[in-house]
Amino acid sequence: MRGRKILLAAAACIALTGCQGRTGEEEKSSIRIGISLYRGDDTFINNIRWELEEKAKEYERRRGIKVTLDIQDAKGSQSTQNNQVERFVSLGCDVLCINPVDRMDASLIIDRAMTAGVPVVFFNRQPVEEDMNRWDRLYYIGVDARETAVLQGKIVVDLYQNRPEAVDLDGDGVVSYVLLEGESSHQDSLIRTEWSIQTLKDGGVPIEKITGGIANWERSQASALTEQWLSEYPDTIELVVSNNDDMALGAIDAMDRAGAEGINVVGIDGTIPGLEALENKKLLGTVSANKENYAGAMMELAAACALGEDLPAAYPLTDGTYYWVPQEILTLDQGESRDFKEN
Ligand code: GAL
Repeated sequence: MRGRKILLAAAACIALTGCQGRTGEEEKSSIRIGISLYRGDDTFINNIRWELEEKAKEYERRRGIKVTLDIQDAKGSQSTQNNQVERFVSLGCDVLCINPVDRMDASLIIDRAMTAGVPVVFFNRQPVEEDMNRWDRLYYIGVDARETAVLQGKIVVDLYQNRPEAVDLDGDGVVSYVLLEGESSHQDSLIRTEWSIQTLKDGGVPIEKITGGIANWERSQASALTEQWLSEYPDTIELVVSNNDDMALGAIDAMDRAGAEGINVVGIDGTIPGLEALENKKLLGTVSANKENYAGAMMELAAACALGEDLPAAYPLTDGTYYWVPQEILTLDQGESRDFKEN
């Protein structure tokens, strides 16, 4: 499939290292980027959005090119997002950055972009490979979900290896855990769950699952679930493994309400509220995608596409299509010397 894509690109005389702008265009002094967020109230997505706005200002100053970001909230509706794409195209956007509502259903967006000749940088919610292979001007920026999960598992493995009593709280040789999962159709939920747990097993943590549930990345849903679990299984839960920071914070809210202490909670994202919980010793650790790098890749790749320039060498693409953002473990020891707000 990839080979076919390259052949098509070559046949169309498009340089493999470049992202060609629309043909016959004069040198541009301004670019317009149409951005659609799957949900504007998602904490992690908002963190990326703020960084992107900063990167756009920095790009303008550095390159002397005016950058207009047209940011829309799809509010969890794929049809709203499809309409936003339609509007972006009619407004003459040079490139689109799309955080798809339904990652399995990016085909209408791709059809519209291909017809209009507008490249698309998808991010965070990965369209299926079949869709990504339809055109050589489709890109994806995100984190490698398996890497995230292995790093999350490592936070607990490291603590268990150094101080088993800090994880196996009742000292019975078993670490009883509950699992909070994100949306069931999201690539990150499935892969994170599988590999976090596998990493705990591989690292020799004697885990036993009490229960788990889907809280759709949301703090309030996770809080309700955890509240229920704490009353169903009193004095039993020793570890909460959460697919993201917001749900981890929801679990912490419920633990605070119930007066449950000492339970270890691990998250993912390194959001601003997540880092505050880390500082307050409520969260054992999190795995943070480098937001500056994430937004930098989006800005530079989108701008190169809009201007028909070579793709940015600082953000090398896998298979000419995917950029994987670097990530790191944050625990209090590593975190103490950091200025979290700038992360
Ligand atoms: C995940 C992130 C979640 C949520 C989700 C939205 O990668 O960890 O917190 O933002 O993306 O697609």
